[in-house]
Order: sequence, then structure tokens, then C-alpha cells
Amino acid sequence: MQLRNMMAILLVGLQQAAVAAPADKIPEVHTEEWIAMNASKAETIEWFQDAKFGMFIHWGLYSIPGGIWDGVKIHEERRPHIAEWIQHAFEIPRAEYAELATSFNPIHFDADAIVKLAKAAGMKYLVITAKHHDGFALYDSKVSAFDVMDATPFKRDIIRELHEACRKAGLDFGIYYSHNIDWADGSDGRAAEYKEKGWSIPHPNLHFGANIWDPSPNTFQEYLDEKAYPQVKELMENYPDMKCLWYDMPWRMDAEQSYQFYKIVYDIQPQIIITHRIGNGFGDYSIPGDNKIPENLDEIIKPWETVGTFNNSWGFNGYDQDWKSPQEILFWLIEIVSKGGNYMLNIGPTGLGGVPMESVHNLEAVGAWLDVNGEAVYGTEKWDLTKEGPTTVNMGGTHAREKEGFKFEFTAQDFWFTQKASTLYAISLVPTSGSVTVSSFHTGVGRVKNVELLGYGTVAFQQDKKGLRVKLPRGNNANLGYVLKVSR
Ligand code: GLC
Repeated sequence: MQLRNMMAILLVGLQQAAVAAPADKIPEVHTEEWIAMNASKAETIEWFQDAKFGMFIHWGLYSIPGGIWDGVKIHEERRPHIAEWIQHAFEIPRAEYAELATSFNPIHFDADAIVKLAKAAGMKYLVITAKHHDGFALYDSKVSAFDVMDATPFKRDIIRELHEACRKAGLDFGIYYSHNIDWADGSDGRAAEYKEKGWSIPHPNLHFGANIWDPSPNTFQEYLDEKAYPQVKELMENYPDMKCLWYDMPWRMDAEQSYQFYKIVYDIQPQIIITHRIGNGFGDYSIPGDNKIPENLDEIIKPWETVGTFNNSWGFNGYDQDWKSPQEILFWLIEIVSKGGNYMLNIGPTGLGGVPMESVHNLEAVGAWLDVNGEAVYGTEKWDLTKEGPTTVNMGGTHAREKEGFKFEFTAQDFWFTQKASTLYAISLVPTSGSVTVSSFHTGVGRVKNVELLGYGTVAFQQDKKGLRVKLPRGNNANLGYVLKVSR
């Protein structure tokens, strides 16, 4: 997206802030300061909006049990049923959980291979969990011994290796850091204090995400001062030139705390853009929800990213075989991009560091499609209309997708749209030959001068007030769908 458009959007966004969805607001304290810091990140925002497709990696000690504890599946325990929440689901005491570190020895981990896979998939950036809710750091942390160097036999700085591999291969890099939830050192995450003071959180369960089964004896403020703030600082100092920082689950963060997390990053790497899950409106970009594609785009005032799981878990789950097919991944990507967002798709390496085969194969297939059709995705913008055709699929979140599965029911009449300057793209996910009509490209959108089937070449067309009729050649390359590039 052009810088000018982006600034315009930010300004309109700021004016609309008062009516925006709560998650997508701007901060009520340090407001002027935030506006200035946020505006100074325009270049990264522009990069982000052009990049469209990224790789998320959830990896940690939880990858060893892979969703099963003492023979019991996480689905039989407390929600949420995602494998990286195993300590919470089974209320595993801190000392017992920490023992997993003694067997964390992921001999199959190969940073270059993961980066190569991301590139082959057509992904432009990679974000990995430097520390998830269990409090374990995947890098060499000087402020906590609960890290890969001190607590495991592996003793390799995973974040450093991936950061380096990305730099070498020209893939952009970011990290996820669980700032609010830390089951090892974050006490009860202020749950008792919230209860006592009668405060609420934006979740039906006041204790949600808090370690109330075996909280650490320090206070939450001590956790922030002695672990979380210093860890974010050392991450900023250790790994330069990052693009984004993924804070998560801010339920009990107050505004000053969110501000601190924003400022620590800004002071060292001012270019980094931060997710709105930092809390209290301090984010530079929005996350509509896990595995959620937004329906109402008016509620979103900031650049946004949908994050998605490959099966139904972020961390490796050894029994979940509900893998997204190349066809489904493309649907997510295209639906999201046509709405102006980014898609960051997660892989969950195993406890030994390997990437599940299905993730590898399906990503490669998507990458092959993007090799031919990527110009309709990268660097594009949302058009006046996101889609035409009879079929719609709503993706309302992780539980919805897990419950309902994915049925591919799109037809040759379904087209998604993107645009780049005066060029329009119509994207179909249905392999077809013969004649197709894109109704929205009628003479009202301007006279079409040329139509190209990407990967093939110019094709014959006719345009009138009912649409653009195109003749597709037989045997075209489109096994997962095709793109029409329309020049006006
Ligand atoms: C949720 C979960 C978490 C996962 C994240 C990804 O907030 O708590 O386990 O990391 O979403 O978006």
C-alpha cells in the first residue's frame, strides 16, 4: 500500500476511534505520545500491508507432551483445548511442568530448513514464540534460568538461530512474547486482586488464563519488573532489525503497564510494530481473533492480521489430524487479502523439532500456486468489493472451525478481488475451462483493455454492462484456481 493512503487510513482511523470496537481503539493515556510513536512506524506498516502472508511458530516445552498428559487428551480437560495450554488444562504444578525442560532436546530442529519452507510457501515473515504462557524462554535469557540455555540439555539459542537464518535468507522476523500470562513466574496474574476489587476482565471467567492452581509466591508487579520488562529489553537488544512483536492475552494489564511494554520496544527498536493484544489500545495493528476472519470491516481502524492454526492447535498436538489442505489455506489467504488483511499461518514443530509432514507438503503446494499468482496477493489493496458469487463461508474462530470443519463448496461463479493501481485481479479457487463471467467487472468499472490469465498469457474477453466474459483455455495451470489480471 502506498504510504500516502496508509497515513490517510491512520488519520481516518484516529477520528473514528471513539466509535471503534474496543479491541481496536487507541490508548486513553499517553495518547499524544502514542500517536507520534505509532506514526513514526509508517514504513513498517507499509511493509506489513504489502507482505500479506507470514509464518507463525508455536514451539516450547508443551511440544513434548503434544496435547496428552499422563495418557489423557487435553480435549478431556479444561478449555481452551490447545496444546500449549496443557499446564493450565491439567493444572500441572510449576515444578512438575519445569521437569519437561530436562528432556527438551530437539535434535531435528533446523532453522535454515524452517526458513526455507516459509520461503517456499510464499511467506514473507516469520514470528516465533520467544516465551509463551508457560514462562519458558527459547533464547539465552540472563534474567531467568527457565530458558533453553540453563534448563535444557539442548543449550542452543533457538531465537538466535532463526533470527540469523531469516537474515541470511531475506525473510523478515518478529517474536511473540506472552507479557501478561506467565504460569511459572507471573503469580496469579492479579486474579485475586481483581476479584477483591470487583474489577472485571473482558472474558466471562475472571480467572481466565491465570495460574490459580500453583501461583508463584512473588507479586505480579515483581514479575513485571524482574522478568517480563527485562526480558523484552534483552530480546530487543539481542535480535536487531525485527519487524513485529506479538504480545498476547492482555486481560489484566492496566494502561501504564501496556505503555511500558510499548515504550521498552520503541526505545530500542522504534520500527517494530506491535499487536493490539499489548492491551489498552497501544497496538499498532489489530488481530480480529484466533482463526477469525472479520465480517464487519468498519470495526477495524488499524492494519490487521488474522492468525490461524494448521490443525486446531498452535503448539504441536500429536492426535489432531485435522490439517488444513492447500485448498483451504488458499481460501483463508484470499478471503483475508481481499478484505485488506494479512494471514499468519502457524506451524507447531514437535518436541524433537521436526515440522509435521502435512504442514510441509501443504505449504509447498500453496507456495507453488503463489509462484504463479502471487502478484494478485502481495502489495495489493482491497477493492470496492471483496467478493462476488453465491458462496460465503464465515470463519468465526478456533472453536467454530474445529466444530464445523471446512467444506469446500465454492463454484466457478465465486471470485475474490484485489487491486494494484489501476489493475484489478479476480481470483477463483475453482479450476475451470471454457467461458466464465465476472459480473462486477462490467463497463461501469472502466473499459477493460487487456485480460491476462496469470501463468498463461493474454486471453480473449468481452465486456458489457453485465460483466466481463472471459474464455479460459483448456489445460491451463490452474489446479487450485486461477487469477485474471485485468488492465483498464
Ligand atoms: C491465544 C492463546 C495462545 C496462542 C494465541 C495465538 O491467545 O492463548 O495460546 O498463542 O492465541 O493467537
